[in-house]
Amino acid sequence: MNSPVPFWVVIPAAGIGQRMQADRPKQYLPLKGKALIEHTLDCFLQHPDLRGLTVCLAENDAWWPQLSCAGDTRIQRCIGGQERADSVLNGLSALLEQGAQAEDWVLVHDAARPNLARSDLDKLLQALADDPVGGLLAVPVRDTLKQVDANGRVTNTPDRSQFWQAYTPQMFRLGALQQALSAALAAGSSITDEASAMEWAGQAPRLVGGRADNIKVTRPEDLDWLAR
Ligand code: C5P
Repeated sequence: MNSPVPFWVVIPAAGIGQRMQADRPKQYLPLKGKALIEHTLDCFLQHPDLRGLTVCLAENDAWWPQLSCAGDTRIQRCIGGQERADSVLNGLSALLEQGAQAEDWVLVHDAARPNLARSDLDKLLQALADDPVGGLLAVPVRDTLKQVDANGRVTNTPDRSQFWQAYTPQMFRLGALQQALSAALAAGSSITDEASAMEWAGQAPRLVGGRADNIKVTRPEDLDWLAR
């Protein structure tokens, strides 16, 4: 029996998802009778060690209030920011207001990643429970990688054994993540995930091998695959 690892969650959901070419932000697209984001939330809401969860929404979001989960008192809302990192920072502040402490674990998970398995969530929590830094779910790249020039011509084939795809959840101590994100943003550094902010702060997050089907819905065919 695993010992409990209490955790908080931030779901950044303030993006538009332009690559989906849809009539609404991708997290609100329908999947098996629910909005995509509702599947995403389910995995966390069903976990007994969840302490609190905040969803970062665009200021003019007209889709969220239409969902049945909008009335769920376990879900707190905050306004997202310009970049994903700004949204996450707002989410962390909201959790602190809810009673989270700087040393607590926080998991940041993409709204558009609806297929997180409970087994992967538990694997991440158990693997990092005593880790001094934290880390993230990740998957080794399976295809050969190509580096290209501006004309789409191959310039290099790097050794793929050194490359992993960064997935979410990404799990760090709330205070350390808040400091790293704030400092990286203030320095104008380009931050595409929480781990890169921690790296920027001089830390080495740990990779935890996860399932490859924990995909982020990015292109129309991703949704077809999940709906199969
Ligand atoms: O665009 P991408 O798929 O990389 O976005 C990852 C996640 O970050 C999505 O869940 C998106 O809604 C969120 N995001 C956000 N605030 C932004 C940009 C993206 O919460 N300003």
